[in-house]
Amino acid sequence: MKLPTIIGAEKLLNEAKQRNPGAWIGHSKTAALCAKKIAEHCDNLDADFAYVFGLLHDIGRREGVTDMRHIIDGYRFLLSQSYDDCARICLTHSFPYKDIRSYNGQNDCTTEETEFIISFLENTEYDDYDKLIQLSDALALPDRATYIEKRLVDVVMRRGFNDLTIPKWKTFLHLKDYFDKKTGTDIYKLIGV
Ligand SMILES: [Fe+2]
Repeated sequence: MKLPTIIGAEKLLNEAKQRNPGAWIGHSKTAALCAKKIAEHCDNLDADFAYVFGLLHDIGRREGVTDMRHIIDGYRFLLSQSYDDCARICLTHSFPYKDIRSYNGQNDCTTEETEFIISFLENTEYDDYDKLIQLSDALALPDRATYIEKRLVDVVMRRGFNDLTIPKWKTFLHLKDYFDKKTGTDIYKLIGV
């Protein structure tokens, strides 16, 4: 895997902060910490890699205030830096449930970009880093980690629910269960919620 160092990733995040400051910077740092703490207890994961993936998963927000666009912007930016494994996380982190309609927000991508994302998801089997950042993203508030159940309810209160809500909730709870088993503990203890 070719990733930036932690210092390199922090530099990229700081540059992005100058371009588009916001709560997403704190969220990215919380997600990185959650990912690191969980990865430290997984035999097949590297905690520093997990930290870097967490820091950069939303880096597409460097381009401004966008919705689903941020995933494709992050993907392109990190590919341009030759960080292909980090680029992949930009796309996969938003889709624990592999259906483009399950995105929490507006699709502000072009038709071509949307088709690209759909086919990328169809042709990608998630590895444990994809899954770890999907989980960490859902645990991360700008200033602290929280219970996934709280985040799920909060999103539904703000955006309403549809026919994909229950399958999505099941996917998130399955992810939590997956990492509880992998770490041999309750991940809430690891991240200190
Ligand atoms: Fe995120």
